[in-house]
Amino acid sequence: MDMDGLRQRLAEAGQSHLLQFWNELSPEQQAEMQQDMGTMDFKEINGFFKNAMETSMSQTKQEKIDNHMEPVPREVLGSVTRDRESLKDWDKQGLQCIAQNKVAVLLLAGGQGTRLGVPYPKGMYDVGLPSHKTLFQIQAERILKLQRLAEQQHGTKCCIPWYIMTSGRTMESTKEFFAKHKYFGLSQEDVIFFQQGMLPAMDYSGKIILEAKGKLSMAPDGNGGLYRALGTQNIIQDMERRGISCIHVYCVDNILVKVADPAFIGFCVKMGADCGAKVVEKTNPTEAVGVVCKVDGRYQVVEYSEITLATAERRASDGRLMFNAGNVANHFFSLAFLRDIVNTHEPQLQHHVAQKKIPYVDAQGQLIKPDKPNGIKMEKFVFDIFQFAKKFVVYEVLREDEFSPLKNADSQDGKDNPTTARHALMSLHHRWVLNAGGHFIDENGTRVPAIPRHGPAGSVSTGVTQNLKDGTDLPIKCEISPLVSYGGEGLEGLVKDRELRPTLVINEDGLHELVKNGL
Ligand code: UTP
Repeated sequence: MDMDGLRQRLAEAGQSHLLQFWNELSPEQQAEMQQDMGTMDFKEINGFFKNAMETSMSQTKQEKIDNHMEPVPREVLGSVTRDRESLKDWDKQGLQCIAQNKVAVLLLAGGQGTRLGVPYPKGMYDVGLPSHKTLFQIQAERILKLQRLAEQQHGTKCCIPWYIMTSGRTMESTKEFFAKHKYFGLSQEDVIFFQQGMLPAMDYSGKIILEAKGKLSMAPDGNGGLYRALGTQNIIQDMERRGISCIHVYCVDNILVKVADPAFIGFCVKMGADCGAKVVEKTNPTEAVGVVCKVDGRYQVVEYSEITLATAERRASDGRLMFNAGNVANHFFSLAFLRDIVNTHEPQLQHHVAQKKIPYVDAQGQLIKPDKPNGIKMEKFVFDIFQFAKKFVVYEVLREDEFSPLKNADSQDGKDNPTTARHALMSLHHRWVLNAGGHFIDENGTRVPAIPRHGPAGSVSTGVTQNLKDGTDLPIKCEISPLVSYGGEGLEGLVKDRELRPTLVINEDGLHELVKNGL
């Protein structure tokens, strides 16, 4: 590679400091650094920095956007609790699309998982279920099960291709993991990995940060990096080749995610939507979750920090929060819409600025770990494209049934961690067993009382916890393989009128009561 050319490009972009330790590097380090920088467009990166900083500063100065906001109108909203009578139809429509090979799923798995703090991709995490399945395996089995359900109902073989977006940091280990586990029973050619872009971290004056003498500090360009990657990695063409028309996009960290949810897909298709967002109800005004709403007539996600408390607290006539459509990064897109985004709108998307504490080497070559933010990472968000939708719809689901993200390590604030994820899944499966007519008994053979409440589709479900003698609430230990049931269906034959003892595990080979609790 031409070193003089690289030097010149760096000089023209005001980034020559990146070579300040060049003479101290070994030939291997030099070659590696040269390769890293070879394909980087420094002028474009400077442009991203300038635009992102300007937008961020004008947003800081801007008044809150309360007066421009409108809640999601009822006519574009589908709800699993408020539209129960339509659920079956939506589900049928979605399953039909799956049977016709029109549906693909797209997993956003390029994040760094810094808060969870493990040195491998988050999808490989085992939250400690009785089966010790990883997030990847749970999702793969849900896809397999849906394929089987669609095949059973429509009598034709079908496939849901799984596109997995990774980043430079997670690609190799993710691929190896899938290969090692034989793609969890899926066909290798229907699991398609692709890589999102990376961008350098910059200091506040726009200089790229060195994390080592011969290494730039790089980070993935946000989950909205998806749209650029869809173009550069020829994913849209692959989808066209396969005849895909609907894409379900979701995050790796939600243990309850209904991958390719037929009811959600069916709702979006019936509504003629090009873009749809699944949401959960925000019930607490101060919860720091982004809400889907209209701003100046266009849909977007508004962060809690962008509005006043008074607006966050406003209630509609039914007593719910007026802005209650909590975004869970779970979306429907038509292929035509994605194609349009990639070809036309992607370059208009601005990067958002995330201020971070970024380790750097100082002028003496010492590694410094700052204790306050010293620079920025630039990211796009997957929901940045809502504004371009011609027909946008919103689909509201129950949080306890569909959303429990794994963000933090167990030692942290007790929220969104492996324990909460494990409990959420087991609580859901516990409710499935009760809805199917099963009962749980404790170690003395006494029935564990179910606290009835109304769940979706008129089902009865329970409080999610069992009150133990020591006063702590733990869920009944119960895990049902996705290969047995995708969404609670098909369990009556196994559990109806039976008294079951936790830990209960239901696999394809039947029902197992594990006497020793391994959790
Ligand atoms: P988060 O924003 O929660 O980030 O990602 P994260 O990387 O998982 O965790 P932290 O913030 O470093 O602790 C939400 C979803 O978006 C994906 C993640 O993999 C996750 O599924 N994501 C995030 C990407 O695919 N690419 C990115 O650049 C960032």
